[in-house]
This record gives sequence, C-alpha cells and structure tokens, in this order.
Amino acid sequence: MNSFIFCNPTRIYFGEGAIKNLAKEMEKCGKNVLLAYGKGTIKKEGIYDGIVDILKSCGKNVIEFSGVMPNPTAAKVREGIALCRDGKIAFILAVGGGSVIDCCKAVAVGSRLDGDFWEELYTKRIAAHEAIPLGTVLTMTGTGSEMNSTAVITNEELKFKASFSSEAAAPKFSILDPTYTYSLPKYQMVSGICDIMSHLMEQYFSGTDDNVSDDLNEALMRSIVKNARTAVKNPKDYAARSNIMWGATVALNGILGCGKTQDWEVHQIEHQIAVYYDVAHGMGLAAITPSYLRFICRNGLDKLKRFAVNVWNVDAEGKTDEQTALEGIDRLEAFFKEIGATVSLRELGINDKSKFSEIAESCNIRTGGYRILTPEDIKKILNDSF
Ligand code: NZQ
Ligand code: ZN
Repeated sequence: MNSFIFCNPTRIYFGEGAIKNLAKEMEKCGKNVLLAYGKGTIKKEGIYDGIVDILKSCGKNVIEFSGVMPNPTAAKVREGIALCRDGKIAFILAVGGGSVIDCCKAVAVGSRLDGDFWEELYTKRIAAHEAIPLGTVLTMTGTGSEMNSTAVITNEELKFKASFSSEAAAPKFSILDPTYTYSLPKYQMVSGICDIMSHLMEQYFSGTDDNVSDDLNEALMRSIVKNARTAVKNPKDYAARSNIMWGATVALNGILGCGKTQDWEVHQIEHQIAVYYDVAHGMGLAAITPSYLRFICRNGLDKLKRFAVNVWNVDAEGKTDEQTALEGIDRLEAFFKEIGATVSLRELGINDKSKFSEIAESCNIRTGGYRILTPEDIKKILNDSF
C-alpha cells in the first residue's frame, strides 16, 4: 500500500430520530446560526419546522440562506458569504444534499478569506485553515459530502465546475436519519445510488497493488447493488435505506482511498457536462460510465476482470479476460437500467452533440486511472454514451 495520512473529524449521529442530537451540538456554538437549505423540499416534509424549533429552543438567532440550487454556483456562494459577514454568523447548519452542503463548505471557508473565494480556493488553490464551523442534516444520500472536506462548485462565467478540499471545511457533525430520505423522488434516489457506485469505481479502478481498500470497496459495491434493488421496490425499507445512506458516507469519507492511487476522470467529464446541461450528478455519471470503462478496458484488464468476477459474479470459465471484463461492464449497465438510471446522454435529455467539443476540451485530465485521456478520447466517450 502507498503511505497515507488519514483523519476524519466529522462526528456522525445516525439513525431514526437522530435530529434530537442537534440541541447538544448547538450548545457548543455561538448565537447567530445560518440555516441553509435548497429550494424548499424540507418545508414540505416537516424537517424545516423541527429544526427551527430546536434552534429557537436553544436561543439561537436564525438567519436563513435558502434557494441553494443543485450544482451550486459561485454566485450563490458569494451570496452566502455576504450573509455570514453581515450577520456575524457563528455557525452554519446545512440541511439538504450534496449541493447545499458543498455550497456551505465554500461559504464557511470563503467567509474567513480576505480575497474572493473562487480566486483563492479554486484558482490559486491556497491551503485554507480557517472556517466558520459547519454542521449538516442530510436529506439526500449519494455524494458523501456529509463526511468529507470537499466542495464542488460551478463557476458559470468560466464555464468550469471544480472542487477544493480543506480539512477546515469538513463538517463538525452530520445528522443522518434514513427516514429523511424517504421523500426523495425515485429519480433522485437512483441518482444518488449511481453516484455512490461511481465513487467506489473511481477509487477502485486504479493501481495494480494488492490493497485492502479494494477488498472493502468490492464488499460495499455488492452491498449497494443489493440494497438498491430492495429500495427501488420498496422505498420505505428502513434496512435498505439505512445501508445505502451509511454506504454512501463510507464510500467517500476517505477510508476507501487509503493507500491507493485513484482515478476520478469520469467525475471530471460529468462535472463539465453539468456546466452545459442541467443534469442530476449521479444520472450524468451513469450515462457515461459504461462507455468510459469499455474505452479503458484493455488498459485496466486485470482489474476489470476482477470487478466482473467479484462484484457481478461473472463466470470466467472458458472466456478470455477481455470477454469476462466486458461482461462485467454489461452487468453494471444492466443494473443501472434495472433501477431506472439514465444510461445514455440522450436519455439524460441531451439531444444534440453541439457542446461535446467544448466539454471535452475543458475537462480536467487526471493521471491516476488506467489510461490518461486526451480531449479526443473524451469526445469519443461522449459520442459512445450518446
Ligand atoms: O432543493 P431541494 O428542495 O432541497 O431539493 C433537492 C434537489 O432538488 C432534492 N432533495 C434533497 N433532499 C430531498 C429532496 N427531495 C425530496 N426529499 C428529500 N429528502 O434533491 C435534489 C438534488 O439535491 P442535490 O443536493 O443537488 O443532490 P446531490 O446530493 O446529488 O448533490 C449533487 C452535488 O454534489 C456534488 C455534485 O457535483 C453536485 O454539485 N458532489 C459533491 C461531492 C463531495 N462534496 O464530495 C462529490 C460528488 O462526486 C459530487 O461531485
Ligand atoms: Zn459523485
């Protein structure tokens, strides 16, 4: 294994009714609390009222930061930073999915910087050590943002979606109640499941070493597949929803990347698709992953064969390694279809190829995967995914 440093500072409160722990966390922070949420789903579900009651009973002065959109923008981050400065905010409580949490991480760190947050964190990539403390109440599973230090933000002017990571941005605590995810439309639940699978694959499809992280990863992939099948049939199956929720967190809280090189090229491509088209993150990943894996199949043959056999139970008997590997990718794609994911860009609502060149040329190129892509390669993958 490669040498590594691992630290994860987020306290997790997990389970039905876990919101009761919010009050004791609020005792630790100052009076002015920024309550951040998305476009209002939490109001319909009663989550909002419950949280406001707790904040009020703890004597907090609540300042609202609402309307955080999916794939949050730099402009929205700047709006949050202004609120924090004007309201002398002592604590940020992010209630929602990855978009609300990521936006709040950028607000939390950006509020403590002298310069513009994008310039400092995403362009100069300074090491930021200070932030307004942040806590989260998770309502959508998938990204793992509730227990990591990454924030992915879209800069609409630059037409670029990028991430920064800083331990200062990691939530102090996250409240994970699986029943809060029951109200997710099937489309969003499935999108989250595809995102989890992608996070696992991005860490798995790299390196040739014998690594315990890959064994853990395979076990989690099998678990997500099994629980996804149950959750799609019965969205209120508590066991399935709780396994998916915690599985999502573990998939990207750093533990499965320990001692490993990693890929993340599929995420780079999806992030640029999302700059040009309004797509749900996980569905975008499902649409391009099978084509990507077929494209790199010969370069990562041993691992793709292992994936086919260990995750998808492909019988390798009498088949070439490539046949086995390709069968594994076919099963992944069939699984995505079975649970209702979009497995092509057309299904995702992209009806023409006019932006493919811009997307391909603007993607970050990562070097940890089995093949280092060129813009031409990315264009081919986009065409194959159409
Ligand atoms: O806006 P509201 O009303 O809250 O509705 C949201 C939103 O429309 C809805 N929703 C959330 N909880 C709900 C609910 N609807 C009904 N019931 C509930 N309980 O779901 C929609 C999608 O929410 P969003 O937060 O956008 O989804 P997700 O969690 O997939 O986050 C996606 C963002 O996270 C980034 C993505 O790039 C994207 O910007 N990522 C963050 C990562 C990280 N921080 O580590 C890693 C990921 O790979 C990813 O890049
Ligand atoms: Zn993702």
